[in-house]
Amino acid sequence: MPPPNLDRLTRVYGPETWDVYQRLDVSLDPKGPDWLHDLAGRYLQPGDVVLDAGCRDAEHLIRLVEANQVTGVGVDPVGIHMERARAAVDAAGLAGRITVHQGIVHDLPYEDGSFDLVWCRDVLEQVDDLDGALGELARVVKPNARLLVYTTLPPSSSTAATPR
Ligand SMILES: C[S@@+](CC[C@H](N)C(=O)[O-])C[C@H]1O[C@@H](n2cnc3c(N)ncnc32)[C@H](O)[C@@H]1O
Repeated sequence: MPPPNLDRLTRVYGPETWDVYQRLDVSLDPKGPDWLHDLAGRYLQPGDVVLDAGCRDAEHLIRLVEANQVTGVGVDPVGIHMERARAAVDAAGLAGRITVHQGIVHDLPYEDGSFDLVWCRDVLEQVDDLDGALGELARVVKPNARLLVYTTLPPSSSTAATPR
């Protein structure tokens, strides 16, 4: 005796469903979690100074400093991030090579040309003064230094919103 909902089951498991399953099984080959660190490593020399703009708990700054024999500065405005960053830096035994301070990226207490690389991962989308932030980052890096920015962008709303 077939179940009373056989029609629905047959529809749910119809060709469209199998087509979706097949498409979901194809990897888009996303980059792995290490690729940004690998990229930063290509631009760093031992002894360089890195600024982590929006460092949160300094997880990435610690990794950059350990992997590349550099020193680092982390900046973040949120108090709990600073507490966690200081604790993590101490736990890693890197207090002599990493400084973190509570502050904002568009007002940095560093001289012009202080840094060899800026690491700014997943931060700019939260920054309220983007022009000010980019201007300040450009000021504190050395000439020809790299600004490594990774950020998310909203889907193109301008296309959708443009009247024809
Ligand atoms: C999504 S988290 C990313 C943290 C870290 N960069 C990472 O990749 O794990 C964004 C961080 O940006 C910080 N942030 C937001 N506005 C900022 C500003 N104006 N200046 C500096 N950091 C800011 C937040 O406090 C938060 O720690």
